[in-house]
Amino acid sequence: MAHHDHDHDPHHHDPHHHGPDHAHGHSDIDWNEMAPLLENQAELFTPLYERALAWLGHKQTEPGLIVDAGSGPGVVSCLLADAFPGARVVAVDGTEPLLERARARAVRLGVADRFDTLGGELPGALDDLDYPADLLWASRSLHHLGDQRAALAAFAARLAPGGTLALLEGGLPTRFLPRDIGIGRPGLQARLDAVEEEWFAQMRADLPGAVAETEDWPALMRAAGLRPTGTRSFLLDLPAPTTDRARAYVAALLTRRRDVIGDHLDATDRATLDRLLDPEDRASVHQRPDVFLLAAHTVYTAVRTE
Ligand SMILES: C[S@@+](CC[C@H](N)C(=O)[O-])C[C@H]1O[C@@H](n2cnc3c(N)ncnc32)[C@H](O)[C@@H]1O
Repeated sequence: MAHHDHDHDPHHHDPHHHGPDHAHGHSDIDWNEMAPLLENQAELFTPLYERALAWLGHKQTEPGLIVDAGSGPGVVSCLLADAFPGARVVAVDGTEPLLERARARAVRLGVADRFDTLGGELPGALDDLDYPADLLWASRSLHHLGDQRAALAAFAARLAPGGTLALLEGGLPTRFLPRDIGIGRPGLQARLDAVEEEWFAQMRADLPGAVAETEDWPALMRAAGLRPTGTRSFLLDLPAPTTDRARAYVAALLTRRRDVIGDHLDATDRATLDRLLDPEDRASVHQRPDVFLLAAHTVYTAVRTE
């Protein structure tokens, strides 16, 4: 997820990451519980993904097999199926209920005849693919794996010669409020982001087999035997006054943050968060007119040359 905005906000530590129970490790994320948020988020971010996939489409010949590694509920897997109508798409994830959602979505969207799912822990689950991938898409999933260098090598090994690895990692922390919101202390979002950085670092340290790694993705792709071919960032820019959907997403995101990192904020910021989340409060994100959504995700590509 997100300094990359991992995934907390959608990126950074996703709001997804984690669970409110600090007694358990940070990496103990209940992905199934995250399902509605992951789904709403990916649906809201669809214009961004469509531009990213169009960019990928211009870079390579029509893929036969596309793998979505760490697909979650399959919103982007289905966008991949749309963007590449000649391809078969396999969504791979460690959380079976999310794959169930992915299959149901593929049926709803009429792409089920060329859509499969594969359950299991990454990167080992990829060993069960029947044939190599022409495009392997991994969006905000790599940073949930303990050894990112080893995982990238395993991803690279599953590519056909000439195949592309597309990694969505990092970008910018998502912003949705002005610096001064008229209540509390200005700069709340920057402080939330700083606490999330700490949370994210701990989440990674707690992962099984965690290895510290410099997150130079092109260098790591090169170390995996691939040739980096491009880096591009894509913007989601929904200015105020924003849609009810974006507003609901911002409320869900802030709720998640209050649950996950609320204990690490000072009393003033916690009180501000409470007001922002109180639907009855005119200053809340449910009612205030200045809520927006501004996000940037970065996609890194590399090809297997031999
Ligand atoms: C932040 S979500 C990203 C979902 C989707 N790719 C997106 O960009 O919206 C991370 C996904 O990776 C999956 N995941 C995390 N760790 C995993 C592991 N060790 N093996 C398999 N899947 C994993 C989770 O179940 C979750 O669906």
